[in-house]
Amino acid sequence: MFVVVGVTGGIAAYKAVQLVRLLVQEGHEVHVVPTDDALRFVGLPTWEAISRNPVTTSVHDDVPKVRHVALGQAADLVIVAPATANTLAKMAAGLADDLLGTTLLATTAPVVVAPAMHTEMWRHKATVANLTTLRARGVHVIGPEDGELTGGDRGPGRMSEPDAILGAAYGALAAGDLAGLRVVVSAGGTREPIDPVRYLGNRSSGRQGVAVALAAAGRGADVLLVAANIDSGVLAAASAHPRVRIATVTTTAQLQAAMEDAAPERDVVVMAAAVADYRVADVADRKLTKEDAAGPGRTLELVENPDILAGLVAARRDGQTVVGFAAETPDEGETLVDRGRRKRARKGVDLLAVNEVGWGIGFERDDNALVVIDAADRIAAEAHGTKREVAEALWDAILAARGS
Ligand code: CTP
Repeated sequence: MFVVVGVTGGIAAYKAVQLVRLLVQEGHEVHVVPTDDALRFVGLPTWEAISRNPVTTSVHDDVPKVRHVALGQAADLVIVAPATANTLAKMAAGLADDLLGTTLLATTAPVVVAPAMHTEMWRHKATVANLTTLRARGVHVIGPEDGELTGGDRGPGRMSEPDAILGAAYGALAAGDLAGLRVVVSAGGTREPIDPVRYLGNRSSGRQGVAVALAAAGRGADVLLVAANIDSGVLAAASAHPRVRIATVTTTAQLQAAMEDAAPERDVVVMAAAVADYRVADVADRKLTKEDAAGPGRTLELVENPDILAGLVAARRDGQTVVGFAAETPDEGETLVDRGRRKRARKGVDLLAVNEVGWGIGFERDDNALVVIDAADRIAAEAHGTKREVAEALWDAILAARGS
């Protein structure tokens, strides 16, 4: 998961070091966004070393990468620990005068705050009102605990312990608009062996499918990601997500078995994987050599693979939504939407997400553009942006198609 940890200016900042450490140990990609005040308690090198990522506090750093919103957009989860009374007030007002403020305004991920302050500040009507506002906006609040405070005084105000904050954060991930939904998403591209060292494959990196899985998990769904030959770097964020389980497959037959096994107990089935349409008829059990070829060329006999999606559509149960993907290069005089409508009807899916591909378009890139066609041939969504943004739009369309 991509986790942003906002750290604000309170003595409990030292405990946030342990929180960041726990998140990194659990395999998450962690970006720390301290306020300037927080750096008076714990210095920047500590945050960089512990998170293993560069740390900045200003909206004027890394401008070409639009860092002031990029972190918030990429986040699967945002934790603010400690959250001072001042920060809670700024959050309630929607202020964006530093990197943490812009990040919080730019994110759609669950936000968890762990307040820490003196009891008088915690009980002040202003703080109470700010928390009411934040809770009403869906912000999750953990703590503070009752106990000894920095001045030797006692009362509610101590920041919760790092493992409790982590538990609350994982709990918050289950609270989105897809909470309770069980989904299976296939991603990547299948490979068909030719001999022990060669295969027929395609250029799908799996990024879009992984983004679809992570977007669902971020909105509370329980996700099974069936990953066909996806680079471990691309898979990393999903591997560490507590709401994503990963099953890895290589060939179309394995993908089919995994999907047919999972689909009956899933509410939504998304086939984002690029499936090899053909496999080699006779897979050699020894490496093929030029010497054993009959002439200067070689012919491989291919047999057609089953259409996995067709099988899933045929077995679709009441209340289940089946979504296909199609990567198309439209012919001249034909639009992507026309082509998508025909394929949606042919495939019988509830929704078909269509994107244009060609040399240098669509594959192995961070951006994507999709048109989603629904069962009434309407355009249910049209999105372009990062693969995550496109994935969010797809889930909006899936929810709309399910009538929820
Ligand atoms: N698909 C599948 N099994 C196959 C081929 C495709 O489940 N053997 C799924 C893909 O995962 C995708 C959808 O079907 O969700 C459309 O894939 P595409 O390759 O466009 O479909 P084809 O029927 O192979 O269409 P074309 O003839 O245009 O290649």
